[in-house]
Amino acid sequence: MEEDLPRVELRGFSVGDVKVEVFREMSDLTPARYVDFLAFGEDMVESRYFYNVIARAGRVLGVKSGGGVVGVMQFLYPVEPQDGLFVKRLGILEEFRNMGLSQKFWKALEGESREHGYESLWATVNPWNGSIINSIVNKGGYAGVEVHRDLFGVGEHRFVVERRLGASLHGLDEEDVGRQIRGGVVKVVGREEILKSDMVAVEPHDIDSIERVMDQGYKLRLIVRPKYSGREGNQNLLVFVKGRERREPIGAAKVLLPKTVGGHAVSLLSGTEECMEAAVLGVQNSQTEPTIFSMKMFAKAGALLGVRNGGRIVGAEGLLFNPAGGAFVYGPVLDESHRDAKLALELVKIAEGIAAKRGSASVNSIVSVKDARLIEAYKSAGFLAAETIKAGMDDGSDAVVVSKRLK
Ligand SMILES: CC(C)(COP(=O)(O)OP(=O)(O)OC[C@H]1O[C@@H](n2cnc3c(N)ncnc32)[C@H](O)[C@@H]1OP(=O)(O)O)[C@@H](O)C(=O)NCCC(=O)NCCS
Repeated sequence: MEEDLPRVELRGFSVGDVKVEVFREMSDLTPARYVDFLAFGEDMVESRYFYNVIARAGRVLGVKSGGGVVGVMQFLYPVEPQDGLFVKRLGILEEFRNMGLSQKFWKALEGESREHGYESLWATVNPWNGSIINSIVNKGGYAGVEVHRDLFGVGEHRFVVERRLGASLHGLDEEDVGRQIRGGVVKVVGREEILKSDMVAVEPHDIDSIERVMDQGYKLRLIVRPKYSGREGNQNLLVFVKGRERREPIGAAKVLLPKTVGGHAVSLLSGTEECMEAAVLGVQNSQTEPTIFSMKMFAKAGALLGVRNGGRIVGAEGLLFNPAGGAFVYGPVLDESHRDAKLALELVKIAEGIAAKRGSASVNSIVSVKDARLIEAYKSAGFLAAETIKAGMDDGSDAVVVSKRLK
């Protein structure tokens, strides 16, 4: 990463005093990206371009200390309001962890959820990541509702954890449940065991059992650390409680599409392989540098459209919703042999139609000043340049926000 080390100050830092800010300018987004880099590693950091998209189509929230950014949360507004806000990522610099800072972000997010009429929040978490599960599930009363095997590649399983706003906390106490585990009242279940009781514990690496337990209507309610469960080493236990109601899978766009565009099949992309193919298309045919995570972001929170020719993805377009700032379109990106102004225009029109149907006040896109062809396509669809983002692109060039009012 080209950014300088952030200036951070731990001396005199108090979580009670910090303010969660909304980041929108490059001067905040650049250090925010650096926090992501330190917390997650280079491969997981979105490019400058996508940070600009997230800051406008969703929100980038941050906390500073001594002028430097120390913690960042990114979230997006899904197409279906009943899905709740999608927390894309939460990362805090190591020196600032385990101080309760994450709770500040959850509180800020709940405020946003209520303001825009969302009833819940959800996030995908790694079963191994005790810290985030503790921060969300134990402290926030969240409920794990789904297992996604291989969501981010082979072996990269994720839970979806959700919190319904206004619901009372689960009221489980880690120390008390830990005592029940030690006494054998709450059993640690293995693969073949029959689930008899309403509360069971599972080891985080046992993804088969986790999936089975969730399939049978149990929900993740607590993580119990070894100091309470009496387990050796640093092995947490995940505690599941039998739930009554089942829930629709969350985070999958349900938008209506035409069957074809420009004579080619068009469909929603979602799987890891499809997202990978769309990301490669973007890297090779646009001024942007999408990763598989960028494409998953559209597929999970908004919509990712793919145009196919003979099975191969030759065009892609992403769409995200923002109830306050209007919908955002990524692309359309077309491969060289399909780079046709009419096809681009048709894709923009589809995105516009979905956005209008969903009640968005405007539809927007962020485009590189270097991408004259794409700017032309937007202009011919009635878009106007609304804002310039200095050095908003990954190569340091400027980006333009093009916008069209729908209401
Ligand atoms: C996950 C993360 C955001 C949590 O933020 P935080 O401000 O440190 O969280 P909090 O201080 O509110 O709570 C942390 C709690 O988790 C506990 N914890 C820490 N490591 C843990 C582990 N391996 N297993 C179980 N619990 C753990 C802490 O003891 C603390 O609980 P306590 O206050 O009861 O002692 C932060 O650790 C982080 O940025 N991690 C790296 C990035 C990441 O993994 N992000 C999540 C994926 S999107």
